[in-house]
Formats: sequence, C-alpha cells, structure tokens
Amino acid sequence: MTYHALVPAAGGGTRLGAGLPKQYVPLCGQPLLRHALTTLCAVPAIARVFVVLAPDDPYWDRYDWSDLGKLAVLRCGGQTRASSVCAGLRAMVAQVRADDWVLVHDAARPCLRVAQVERLIDEVGNDRVGGLLATPLADTLKRGECREGVARVTATVPREDLWQAQTPQMFRHAMLLHALEYAPAVTDEASALEALGLRPLLVAADASNLKVTWPGDLILAEAILFARQRAAGAPG
Ligand code: CTP
Ligand code: MG
Repeated sequence: MTYHALVPAAGGGTRLGAGLPKQYVPLCGQPLLRHALTTLCAVPAIARVFVVLAPDDPYWDRYDWSDLGKLAVLRCGGQTRASSVCAGLRAMVAQVRADDWVLVHDAARPCLRVAQVERLIDEVGNDRVGGLLATPLADTLKRGECREGVARVTATVPREDLWQAQTPQMFRHAMLLHALEYAPAVTDEASALEALGLRPLLVAADASNLKVTWPGDLILAEAILFARQRAAGAPG
C-alpha cells in the first residue's frame, strides 16, 4: 500500500491578520508551514508530500526546502480549502494510483507528531472508507444568539458523541477526488465522504494538534513546540 501526503497551503490567513499568509508566519524560527512538512516527510510510510500553493505565491521560493527530500510543489490552489485540495488531487493524478492513500493535512497545524500520523495509518490502513484524527469534545457546548452585539445562550448542546475534526484525514485518491467533486462546499474531506453516505473512522488524537487560526493560537503552538524541543534536549 502506498501513502502520500497532500498539504493545502494556499490560504490567506485572514483571521490571523499577520500581513502575510499564515503558512509563512515565523514560528520557532521557521515558516509555520515547515513544521508540518518536516513531520510528514519524517514518516517512513509516506512516499511523497505534495504541497498545494496559490498560483501566484511569491513566498515559497524565498526559503530553502531542499533538506525535505519528499516534497512536490503544486501551484494550483483555489479560492477555498476544498478547491485547493481538489486541484491538488487532480494535479497528482499521474503520480499516484487510484487506491493509494492520501493524507490531507492543513499547513496551519504545525504541532502534528510522527506518532500521531503513524497511529492514523495503523488504524485506518485496512479500512474500506478511510478516517481522520479527531478529539472527543471536552467542553460543555452552548448554542448562542447574538442580538445588538450581545450574545446569550439559547441552548446547551449535549456533547456525548461529539468530536472535533483535525487533520490528517486519510482517504483513497480516487474516492476522495470523486467525493470532493460531488460535494465541493465542504470544510473537510470527511464531510465529502459523508455526503456519499460513507462513515469515516474517527481516530482519537490530542488537542496539541491545533490549527493556528487566531493570533492567540500562535502563542500556544510555539509553547507546545518549545516544550517538545526542551523535552527532547533534556538529559535522560
Ligand atoms: N487553504 C488552502 N486554500 C484556500 C484556503 C485555505 O489551501 N483557498 C489551506 C490553508 O492554507 C490552511 C488550511 O487550508 O493550511 C486550513 O484553512 P484555514 O485555517 O481556513 O486557513 P486560511 O484560509 O489561510 O485562513 P483564513 O480562513 O483565516 O483566511
Ligand atoms: Mg480559511
């Protein structure tokens, strides 16, 4: 079985508001995107790591990526995350087989660990549908209604059986492309498979694999990465 990674990195990072796309914002001294790419390239089972950039991305070429030997760059990003993933899947078609696994991972999740990817591959690799990393919901969930700038609770949503979807999300190339063409207005790959009536596997992950969305998330991500660096460098 062959595994590939596909990393959508064609977004603008509007909510982060950093003045440049968030995948290039410095994090622990490297462009944010490099952290996820380094992890994916370090997974022995992954053959190639395809990166989807915006067609007019002026940033990528400013860095040296040559130490990440498995990278393939696709300059075909679209207006939405789903369209970037879909374009990436089409662009890689000549280099993959229909039943190869593709692990789609947000460039904006820099704290992914090799062990989490390997767990996903272990648990999903023999499944007919595919699956994703996710965390069981921990907080109490409120539905809110905002009137004249004031938000009030309208209901408490039972959190049993609720999970927060993360990435990587792992599906077979042809099935995923078909699903995204069938359901293009989705915010993750699993939703597209669900639209076909399929039920992806949920693989329990931990909250450290956060998506950097708001400025506060950068502080959290940096704290996680520095703590790991310290732990790795500590004696014993
Ligand atoms: N993405 C993409 N193409 C797009 C939009 C998003 O490849 N047209 C990628 C982003 O680069 C990111 C991932 O999808 O790695 C998750 O998207 P998100 O967190 O929403 O990032 P942005 O769209 O860049 O941020 P924002 O929504 O705040 O503008
Ligand atoms: Mg977005």
